Amino acid sequence: MQTLAQHLSSQGIQAPLAQLLTTLADTSKAISHAVRHGALAGVLGATEQENVQGETQKKLDVITNDMLKEALTADSTVRGLASEEEDHIVEVGQSGDFLVCFDPLDGSSNIDINSLVGTIFSVLPAPQGELSEQSFLQPGRQQVAAGYVLYGPSTMLALTTGQGVQLFTLNPETNEYLLTNEAMSISKDTAEFAINMSNQRFWEAPMQTYIADLLLGKIGPREKSFNMRWIAAMVGDVHRVLSRGGLFTYPTDNKNPEKPYKLRLMYEANPMSFLVEQAGGKASTGYETIMDIQPSEIHQRVAVILGSANEVDACLEYHGQDYSEEPSL
Ligand code: F6P
Ligand code: MN
Repeated sequence: MQTLAQHLSSQGIQAPLAQLLTTLADTSKAISHAVRHGALAGVLGATEQENVQGETQKKLDVITNDMLKEALTADSTVRGLASEEEDHIVEVGQSGDFLVCFDPLDGSSNIDINSLVGTIFSVLPAPQGELSEQSFLQPGRQQVAAGYVLYGPSTMLALTTGQGVQLFTLNPETNEYLLTNEAMSISKDTAEFAINMSNQRFWEAPMQTYIADLLLGKIGPREKSFNMRWIAAMVGDVHRVLSRGGLFTYPTDNKNPEKPYKLRLMYEANPMSFLVEQAGGKASTGYETIMDIQPSEIHQRVAVILGSANEVDACLEYHGQDYSEEPSL
């Protein structure tokens, strides 16, 4: 099995990007270690702080953010970073080639129940000149690499540099990432979907109708039975979609009219969309392709519908219809 270093060299990845990906991978090993020690290391539970999005920060959110920030600050290829846990962008160096956006510990509500969590990252080219928030506001299409690390029964790194998606498994004996799937591929069709059903009454008409039709199973217009899964960590749900197909969505809802979307574009939706597209799937808001969105702020949120191409298309058909005459469900 190839190591990550061997793989990056066999793909012809240039030295600066290979160095940055190695930094991210090495830091994820340390995060995996911290996550695995859990209560033994006193890292479970919440802090008294909130992040810029008004969410209470877990101890591990802060610890993992600091670990990534420290490692990326020491990496000469990094010009700046943006994190879910940082209010503002952080300027790192004067000359690095890359900007890194990351969610240090996705699914952090799972921490205290010893369930799946992960790290998500997106690498963008650093533009010339002064660094500002504007430098980060590039469509996902510009990403040069993206990936996630899943801290599950085994620690796995899924990575794309635009040449498909490769999956590495951390060997706990040698602490090395080994290539265990050289081309992750999402089946075009699926009979599995992932959505937080408790928000049903808050969805827009297209999603209401689409999910209602899935639930009708064989007697409904889709004429097949669907299964449902929800891990409550995007990283876990997307990993399942990359592993065995499926449709994952966190759609628009009007639960809180000031916050119609949940997932963040720059360090959740964009990197996951890059991976999904590279594995043959699709990623949309319902109305536009996620990676084509021109971002307007680093903590921007978007609706997300991603996964098996034919199923995403099926869902998008519902979004193209007119519901003005229909009674709401
Ligand atoms: O980062 C946001 C997030 O935790 C995702 O990882 C996950 O998909 C979603 O929120 C879970 O939302 P909910 O708590 O509504 O199930
Ligand atoms: Mn997250």
